[in-house]
Amino acid sequence: MAKQFDVLVIGGGPGGYVAAIRAAQLGFSAACVESEPYADPKGEVRLGGTCLNVGCIPSKALLQSSELFEQANHSFVMHGISAEAVKIDVRTMVKRKENIVTQLTGGIKHMFKKNKVTLLPGHGSFVPQGLPSLGGGEGAWEIDVAGETVLAKHVIVATGSKPRQIDGISVDNKVICDNAGALSFDAVPKRLGVVGAGVIGLELGSVWKRVGAEVTILEAMPDFLAAADAAVAKEAWKVFTKKQGLDIRLGVKIGKVTQGKKGVSVEYELGDESHVLECDKLIVSVGRVPNTDGLGCENVGLKLDDRGRVEVDDQCRTNLPNVWAVGDVVRGPMLAHKGMEEGVMVAELIAGQAGHCNYDAVPWVIYTHPEIAWVGKTEQQLQSAGIEYRAGKIPFSANGRALGQGDTTGFVKMLADAKTDRILGVHIIGNNASELISEAVVAMEFHASSEDIARIVHAHPTLSEAMHEAALDVDKRSLHF
Ligand code: FAD
Ligand code: NAI
Repeated sequence: MAKQFDVLVIGGGPGGYVAAIRAAQLGFSAACVESEPYADPKGEVRLGGTCLNVGCIPSKALLQSSELFEQANHSFVMHGISAEAVKIDVRTMVKRKENIVTQLTGGIKHMFKKNKVTLLPGHGSFVPQGLPSLGGGEGAWEIDVAGETVLAKHVIVATGSKPRQIDGISVDNKVICDNAGALSFDAVPKRLGVVGAGVIGLELGSVWKRVGAEVTILEAMPDFLAAADAAVAKEAWKVFTKKQGLDIRLGVKIGKVTQGKKGVSVEYELGDESHVLECDKLIVSVGRVPNTDGLGCENVGLKLDDRGRVEVDDQCRTNLPNVWAVGDVVRGPMLAHKGMEEGVMVAELIAGQAGHCNYDAVPWVIYTHPEIAWVGKTEQQLQSAGIEYRAGKIPFSANGRALGQGDTTGFVKMLADAKTDRILGVHIIGNNASELISEAVVAMEFHASSEDIARIVHAHPTLSEAMHEAALDVDKRSLHF
């Protein structure tokens, strides 16, 4: 007798495991199929997907360690603390990261037990001629999991994404690495090359720069951080290149990449000139592509869009009845929190509830130092859409807490509709931007105006007062700047 579930999720990343837990909470029999052991010492399947194993969590662990090292070397002194000959043991730093990953991935297995979600280890794929008639006359999808057929009324595809490859560069995750290898170096490379000055390039470039690598980042686009508000990108460029010494070269065209005994040679063109970057390790971080490998979409006619993503509507329905898709494998930003919200939304829609995911209020965070965070529209997007707005902008140099912390780089910028005052976007570059942005997300979710924020009591002294002052500055009545 084949195993049978109300809801079967394919993929145990943030989109998938959250969908499975929520479905179980809503009373469904739920299962989650996951194929990857990642670095599990026993070779057992690990939950948490890219995010927990080779993405968000390990990168933030290394960012924290490397930032402390950086502070000990450069920031303690202003407080009168001398820390001479500070050393870093990369193996311990990486081991700490691995322990955090192990703890969290194990935690999800525990959450599965607690919520009675069945974990089905193995690769999942749609079996041809889905939707057979079951005993009760109910339609069900047939999914092959490691050679066994499992039946499910609803299927949620949450198979995530994988690193985009560049022709002619073969990633071995020893010398030429994608995110997985770049999170596990066992020593600081003397010369680190990075292809792509996007989120991974900047975060992992920062990690290895702080602990002593010479980092050169080669970026194809002529503009730096084109997705961010231009004022934020300009400030970030100044800090990362001039203050922190990241060597970022924009507008390059990558040519031949050769791996030799001593490292890697990257030939590239910049304008009319040809250059060669010699490095000991190379990180390739040029975006990610949806992962539908071996999913058997063709077996059941599951429609993909022109970028290979599973095509879905605003509520993550695919073209097939009772087949849903969430997370990196569908349109929208490739962010863990976006995938998790979609997972919850779909489970609730299956239960007949009003699931919702507000795509207009999905925050972005880049965990460099200073951090960069935003939600809503940039000033440039508002201008090109012809929307009239008022802007308020407050530097952290005018914030008492930031001064006390000795970290005054950056600003908060708020954009509000010129007529209604409704907040349209908030952009932060500065210490703790990742936490500060939540206030703006809540404000936008509740359709707040800048005046609403201006009238809210913010604790003193806190960095959040910069948000308060930015809101006041929309009306040109800031009190401390
Ligand atoms: P994934 O996490 O990719 O999980 C999909 C899972 O499905 C995988 O475990 C895979 O093995 C499994 N799978 C695939 N196909 C099958 C199949 N057929 N059968 C069984 N199992 C299958 N996002 C943030 O929001 N914040 C961050 O700070 C952040 N940092 C990042 C840092 C790095 C270095 C990287 C690479 C990404 C980062 N991201 C971050 C992005 C985040 O990791 C992804 O958006 C998120 O993991 C997507 O979740 P998902 O569930 O859609 O897919
Ligand atoms: P990305 O899309 O952020 O950046 C890729 C960069 O590579 C772009 O600037 C692009 O112009 C450049 N590029 C593309 N092709 C190139 C080429 N041939 N030569 C040189 N440069 C080239 O992608 P990245 O950094 O790989 O990260 C993937 C995704 O993972 C992100 O888009 C994001 O969704 C997620 N992520 C999120 C994080 C966060 O939320 N803090 C952290 C890390 C990743």
